[in-house]
Amino acid sequence: MKNLWKEMHTWMANYMKSFYTEDAEVQNGIHLKELHTGYVTAHCRELAVHLGLGEHERRLAEIVGLFHDVGRFRQYSLYRTFNDAQSEDHADLGLKVLSELPFMKELSEEDEALVRFAIGNHNKRVIAPTEDRRKLRMAKIIRDADKLDIYRVLRPYLTGTDMEGAPNFIKVQAGQEVSPDFIEIFVAGGQADYHQIRTHGDRKLVRLLWVYDINFSWTLQRIVEAGYVDDIIASLEPRNERMELGIERLRSYIAEKCRTEDRMDI
Ligand SMILES: [Fe+2]
Repeated sequence: MKNLWKEMHTWMANYMKSFYTEDAEVQNGIHLKELHTGYVTAHCRELAVHLGLGEHERRLAEIVGLFHDVGRFRQYSLYRTFNDAQSEDHADLGLKVLSELPFMKELSEEDEALVRFAIGNHNKRVIAPTEDRRKLRMAKIIRDADKLDIYRVLRPYLTGTDMEGAPNFIKVQAGQEVSPDFIEIFVAGGQADYHQIRTHGDRKLVRLLWVYDINFSWTLQRIVEAGYVDDIIASLEPRNERMELGIERLRSYIAEKCRTEDRMDI
């Protein structure tokens, strides 16, 4: 497993480099995904260690992190966008790329299925139902690790504090208000439908509502400590009574979730 795991790291590093280009905007996007891959891989391992998983499972968690966005590179080269709705689902595309890699067959059948399940479900609205607790746990690990790093990537753009630093493809007009129906979803503590997004404020709220979809207390603590939640909340408009109610609900949810202890047998 150790050699195979090293081979995978080397392949992925070279694969990402093969997309380097002179086009500054495209290069910016590729570089962003390369960094994201590194951080998510590290977070997957940290979470596996935190949960007390053995070395085999830790390496699998790292493999899932390493390859979770492998589809992004082909997506960008084919469609020049990271928008799934305007191209194709990047997780499904990633599974196609992985099917073409002979070294994936060196994993046991069970481990390969686990890696594919976690990657295929890393970006879906909900995790596909499964009786397999190992698969479910790995899907939860990658979803948390991914969100934790996406908050890092999106912070300047969500808060509008550093729009200059935000990559071109995520630059939109800042400062628009959250739509009233989105505020009601916030009050109810639900998840918003991405397709209903109308304003930049809605976009911020959708990311803030991810907090309710974080699986482990470990992850939520890191999100809070980094200040992502406070920064997004500080930039929300309008500040009416309903919005304050949504914020209050979110804060008490966070306080409670952060007090819970994570278990490996979730
Ligand atoms: Fe992804």
